[in-house]
Amino acid sequence: MWGNYMMPNTRYVLHHSKMALDEKVLEVVERLGEKYESVGEDLLAHLEGLYYRDYVNYWDYVGVDALLNLQKPRTKYPDETTFIIYHQITELYFKVIMHELEQIGFNENLNKDFFVKHLKRINSYWSALVQSTDVLVGGMDADQFLEFRKALAPSSGFQSIQYRLMELWSTDFRNLVGGDQAGKFAEDASIEEIYEHVYWKEGATDITTGKKTLTLTQFEEKYSKLIIRKGKEFRETNLLAKFHSLSKEEQQDPELLEILKQYDIHSNVNWPLAHYRFAARYLKRGDHVERATGGTNWQQYLPPKFQKVIYFPEIWTQEEKENWGKAWVENTFLQ
Ligand code: HEM
Repeated sequence: MWGNYMMPNTRYVLHHSKMALDEKVLEVVERLGEKYESVGEDLLAHLEGLYYRDYVNYWDYVGVDALLNLQKPRTKYPDETTFIIYHQITELYFKVIMHELEQIGFNENLNKDFFVKHLKRINSYWSALVQSTDVLVGGMDADQFLEFRKALAPSSGFQSIQYRLMELWSTDFRNLVGGDQAGKFAEDASIEEIYEHVYWKEGATDITTGKKTLTLTQFEEKYSKLIIRKGKEFRETNLLAKFHSLSKEEQQDPELLEILKQYDIHSNVNWPLAHYRFAARYLKRGDHVERATGGTNWQQYLPPKFQKVIYFPEIWTQEEKENWGKAWVENTFLQ
């Protein structure tokens, strides 16, 4: 009975779904034909290729094997692997942030909504990064760290090119001259001239002798040309320039201003402070201060209140700028 009852219905469904499928297939084949014809390619050859092509799988698509083989510790200390992985995670976050910055920068018809949407994404990546730093505070054994780091000099996160490119993408090059010299360059100053005074260069140069750290020298050998080229390229496409390209009305939009402020704080206060916190956790033991692998006077160099890098100075009050990064140091670090 069940069979008799089911048969006609099943046939009916199959017949109709096959017809619907055929129409859909035809439509797709037609579209494919147009696609390949437009570039002078043979549709049939590509369809046959599809027949032989293997299925996409997760491990190849995500590159799992490659990813899991990127950790190459230089010592036998287990926590060195954690150290490498955490740097790699952070670099991937930097990459996804750059990906968003690029979308804003290269958008030729930018409007406030697009700006806000992509900047919100960037802020949520920064937020996740800042929160994740707790992992590193307790994630390694300090004794192991102080041993394996001896094998790593003169390398330092200081040499992260993505970190520098994010800075370049975010603001006018002149705003990367921080500290007491912020705002000292005129609008028509050349990128080469400003580059000599960016905050990170000055932080890694001995003021009295003018001698650069080896970390900086090596970084410059590899990346100076790229940085100068990008500095020029991003003149019109950095976030601050893109903000200025919006209509006057959009530039005063409270939501946009709030989100820009959050971005400035995440990049130039919250993350630098969180990083400073875990650097201090490992490099400071009681009164004893370890030398950094990158050779900076790190306690003077890293805190935002000394760096005073501000991407969007015009949206902050004079008082806020003068107190840049101070509240956290007073409330948290000096307790
Ligand atoms: C125990 C862990 C860490 C310590 C002790 C530490 C220490 C330092 C120190 C002392 C500096 C100043 C340059 C120098 O003299 O070396 C520095 C710079 C830097 N580090 Fe780390 N760091 C740690 C982890 C990380 C991680 C996981 C990242 C993620 C990529 C990172 C990214 C950076 C960046 C981007 C700079 C340059 C900051 C600037 O120029 O303002 N660091 N780090």
